[in-house]
Order: sequence, then structure tokens, then C-alpha cells
Amino acid sequence: MRSLLFVPGDSEKKLDKALASGADALIIDLEDSVSADRKTAAREIALGFLQGPRSDGLRLLVRVNALDTGLTDDDLDAVLPGRPDAIMLPKAAGGASVTHLHAKLSARETITGLPDGGIGIVALATETAASLFTTGTYRDCSSRLAALTWGAEDLSAELGAETNRDATGRFLDPYRLARSLCLAGAAAAGVPAIDTVYVDFRNETGLRRECEEARRDGFTAKMAIHPAQVAVINEVFTPTPDAVAHAERIVAAFAAQPGAGVVGIGGKMYDRPHLARAKVLLAKAGKMP
Ligand code: COA
Ligand code: MG
Repeated sequence: MRSLLFVPGDSEKKLDKALASGADALIIDLEDSVSADRKTAAREIALGFLQGPRSDGLRLLVRVNALDTGLTDDDLDAVLPGRPDAIMLPKAAGGASVTHLHAKLSARETITGLPDGGIGIVALATETAASLFTTGTYRDCSSRLAALTWGAEDLSAELGAETNRDATGRFLDPYRLARSLCLAGAAAAGVPAIDTVYVDFRNETGLRRECEEARRDGFTAKMAIHPAQVAVINEVFTPTPDAVAHAERIVAAFAAQPGAGVVGIGGKMYDRPHLARAKVLLAKAGKMP
């Protein structure tokens, strides 16, 4: 998965449009982009959309309301019959909150007659100040945990900040910390890290830069808020032919020297971490057996 497009759950028009966006996944939002008086309508529209036609391979996630809102159970009851691929948990407060959601899903899968454990969980790990201190607690919290991602908008509101980006559009320190904690928390939990949204949706140059920095640092995907962002995200998170060829050379060099801890290729040293990285890249490119 490279691109995940947010779509307000109460907008049939945007949901339809999103189907043609080219995104690898859609996140049907029941939370922040839906006003309180539209929550019920959004649940019904979301279910209808989940049950409707879609192209093969398109993954559908539903972002429910946070566990402390009192809305989560009704959200889950409404959308589970549509068998979403995963639930996105906003304002996650560490592994314990994912374990909590896991139990809610297990009960509903049994009642609805769905396969046990089939629905994944993607946690938004940095939306509250307290959650920054729990990003290292996701390991083994739930077999459903599919990825971690992070958010800077709610966090900046909670911190009382005037802005979360500098004049050039780069995230300021508190949000760079949140981003790094998400990345490390995901790696420690053995799941992919997904980069946060880029809200300046007419600025393609800024989006591309942020995608490239995310890929460089280890994120494997990025969330979008507008269909126009999808093509750039897909392009940047698809390994280039040059990168694939280089990774294949590293894997081949180690295969040719079984037992070697280090090899030289084109005048540069490559050891085990390089081999691991090459294999990750080939897996992303669909080139690993
Ligand atoms: N998914 C599907 N379609 C979308 C879309 C989205 N996320 N964002 C915009 N569109 C559609 C618009 O409806 C419009 O359709 P039309 O040409 O048929 O009228 C077209 O794409 C062009 O949209 P545009 O005029 O450029 O933007 P807008 O002012 O209509 O919408 C936002 C701007 C920010 C309100 C909109 O992009 C949006 O709702 N994004 C998602 C917000 C969200 O889910 N936030 C929660 C997570 S942070
Ligand atoms: Mg939010």
C-alpha cells in the first residue's frame, strides 16, 4: 500500500469520485471531517459504500471516532457488516487502546458471523500529547495491528501551538518528534509506518518533497486528503527501476558468497543491514519470493 485517500464518510459524491482516484486504499472518515449532526448519516452512507462495487485490490478502511467519545461502538456496529479491511483508530493511546479495539472487533465479528481477526487496525499514534509517550508500546498489542501512522493537526491544537509548519512548509520540532516516534514505534512493533497528510493540497512541489523525505526515512506510504495528491504519492512510493536493480545486485552479491558478512560492490562496502534494506525494497517492488 502506497496511498491512502481520506474521504468524508457523509459525502456520497466524494466517495464515488474516490473510486477513480487511483489510491491503493480509501479511508472512509466518520471522525473529524464529519460534523456531529451528520454522524448517523455518515454511518449509513459508509455501509452502503462498503457493500458497493469496487476494483480488485482497493482496500477500504473506516476511521471511527476515538474510544473516549462514546461514538465508537455505534460506528463499529454500523460498518462491520460491510467488512472493511481495517479500522483506523484516531487518538490512539498506545498498544492498550489497540487491544481495546481488538476486543470490540472480536465480539462483533462473532456476532456478525465474520472470520475471527479478519479486520485489521491502523493506529493514529501521535494525536494527543500523552500519546507521544506511548508510541513504544504497540509491539504485540494485537494481531490485527497493520500499521501505525501519525497526525500533526490535533496534536498542534492540544499543544496550544500557533502553527505546526515553518514558513517553508516543513514541520516544526514537536511534529518532527511525533513523526520520528511513529516511525520508531512502527519498526519496534514490526508494522509499516504511514506518513501523515499534507494539507496544502494545491502545492504539488511541497507534497513531492514531503513524500521523498518520508520514503527516505522509512515510511512506506502516505495518506492523502485530495484525489490530486494520489498520483504523486504512488509515484514516489513505488521503487524506481534503478533502486530495484541496485537492491538486486546486493542480494545477488550475498547469494554468491554464502556466509559472507560483508561484500564490496562498485567500490563500496555492503554489510548485513544493507542486505536487509535491499530485501525490504524488493519486497515493496513485489520482487521477493
Ligand atoms: N475524496 C474524493 N473526492 C474529493 C476529495 C476526496 N478527499 N477531495 C475533493 N474531492 C473532489 C471534490 O468533490 C471535487 O469534485 P467535483 O469536481 O466533482 O466537484 C473535486 O474533487 C475537486 O475538488 P476541489 O474543488 O479541488 O476541492 P474541494 O474544495 O471540493 O475540497 C476538501 C477540499 C479539503 C474539503 C476536500 O479535499 C476533502 O474533503 N478532503 C478530505 C478531508 C478529510 O477527509 N479530512 C479528514 C482527514 S485529515
Ligand atoms: Mg483529527
